[in-house]
Amino acid sequence: MSRTPKEPVKLVPVPSTNKIPERDIDKSPILECRHLGIDFGGLAAVKDFNMAIGRTEIAGLIGPNGAGKTTVFNLLTKVYQPTRGTILVDGVDTHNMNTVQVNKAGIARTFQNIRLFSNLSVEDNVKLGLHNHINYNMWSGILRLPRYWNAERLAHERAMELLSIFDMGYLAKYKAGSLPYGDQRKLEIVRALATNPSLLLLDEPAAGMNPSETAELMDNIVKIRDTFGIAILLIEHDMNLVMGICEGIAVLNFGQIIAKGTPDEIKNDPVVIEAYLGKRKEA
Ligand SMILES: Nc1ncnc2c1ncn2[C@@H]1O[C@H](COP(=O)(O)OP(=O)(O)OP(=O)(O)O)[C@@H](O)[C@H]1O
Ligand SMILES: [Mg+2]
Repeated sequence: MSRTPKEPVKLVPVPSTNKIPERDIDKSPILECRHLGIDFGGLAAVKDFNMAIGRTEIAGLIGPNGAGKTTVFNLLTKVYQPTRGTILVDGVDTHNMNTVQVNKAGIARTFQNIRLFSNLSVEDNVKLGLHNHINYNMWSGILRLPRYWNAERLAHERAMELLSIFDMGYLAKYKAGSLPYGDQRKLEIVRALATNPSLLLLDEPAAGMNPSETAELMDNIVKIRDTFGIAILLIEHDMNLVMGICEGIAVLNFGQIIAKGTPDEIKNDPVVIEAYLGKRKEA
């Protein structure tokens, strides 16, 4: 199944030898990584990682198991502090930021292994994402002052609005842990969106989904980009999904980018076929 954009995507260069879609070129990239790297003991898990993402781009990060893809997400969200290099979010250096500060600066993520509060309701999981933006202090909450109820009502309305992206409003009162696997993955995306990001990082969003769920997810990722006007970077092994919706793709192998380009360029790159795509077909 191919869902290539109607117009062929043209990637154009920006500083530090990166490329972003032509329509984003008059604005600075939402993310720029320059010479990013991290060592674990003697192992350079990520080396000289350079990447720029346009403000409304859907970008892909692919590569074999253990290539360093999730580690890149952990660097971007400051789960790990980089050993080398610079990360700019909307032009701001995140050098001194922690995970919470990077989230406030505009990066939200989902995890390769689902991380929800499984005993809380679906709605409460989304509200936790909204927490950064709710405007009441601890005493308003404890004393149940009018400001608290007003903030609660707004949070409820916003949570229901966000759940409607995936038509999940009817599940709001269920325990998150009781949802089918595919719905839990979608809930993670909704919770990440609740933090109002400019860049959404999705780590294998289609993992464990059946083909029809994956097709629906593809449509929804595009819908999220179009509705919120944000950028999305996704790690994914499902090549139909990656090639169908990503505009720019970077291929990672042993911690290093071995190719960057449009889906057509990546599909036909002999180095990528040798390191990743060819091997996947044999598997
Ligand atoms: N905290 C850590 N300490 C030591 N080594 C680590 C740590 N985190 C990741 N690694 C190593 O870094 C390398 C990259 O791992 P990573 O999880 O980023 O790969 P990946 O590309 O996401 O793979 P997959 O497709 O299987 O999810 C692996 O060799 C892994 O063992
Ligand atoms: Mg991974």
